[in-house]
Amino acid sequence: MIRIFALCAIFPYVRGLVTSNQQVLEHTTSPRKVPVTLGVMSQCPDALYCESVFDEVLKEVGDIVDLRLSFIGRINSTEPEHGVTCRHGPGECTGNIHELCVASLYNSYTQWWPFVICSNGHGRFAVGTEEVSKECAHGLGLSWKKIKNCVDSDGKKGGEALLKKSVSQTRELGIERSCTVIINGHKRCVRDDEEWKECEDGYGVADFVRTIREAHDSLVVAP
Ligand SMILES: *[C@@H]1O[C@H](CO)[C@@H](O)[C@H](O)[C@H]1NC(C)=O
Repeated sequence: MIRIFALCAIFPYVRGLVTSNQQVLEHTTSPRKVPVTLGVMSQCPDALYCESVFDEVLKEVGDIVDLRLSFIGRINSTEPEHGVTCRHGPGECTGNIHELCVASLYNSYTQWWPFVICSNGHGRFAVGTEEVSKECAHGLGLSWKKIKNCVDSDGKKGGEALLKKSVSQTRELGIERSCTVIINGHKRCVRDDEEWKECEDGYGVADFVRTIREAHDSLVVAP
């Protein structure tokens, strides 16, 4: 079978931007934590899978990880809803915005991450629907009112601005496939087309945990 396109690969124009020297994202929390970035699209099956693996990883090393999601998309001023084109359509852009708003309102991953996992639990097309986001927010004790405010706001901290910032950052990092796992500034692994790829150090929960622990040890010894 000829594959016409990869389901969750980014638009071709990004190709060539990947540098071997991945920039370390600016993380705002404790410098002793290991920055972990998942480059994702909220309705991409590989992202949901990857996030389910990281849900297990976080149970072991969540306290030493500074986690963030970095969303893949393309800024496009003719896009009527959010000014961004998302691979799986406008609903995915909305899903990205919901997750970004929750992470922005509730900085601790212990609050925003369960929201992502809860949304995923309803299936990928339900991610970003008001019904599911509201239900997840209520179930987790998060304020849907605040989230909705963020989602609808045109301001600097509003959902659309957060999405544009996130997709720009993703592009700068050279991330083009969902899900791309970056640990401590290094591209560690990619989950793409229902397979793990470029995972020299393994792709099991224990492998990611080991990489994170090793990175943490190196951060602790560093001056
Ligand atoms: C920009 O958005 C418009 C409106 O949805 C779409 O038709 C067009 O293909 C998009 N352009 C790119 C380069 O993605």
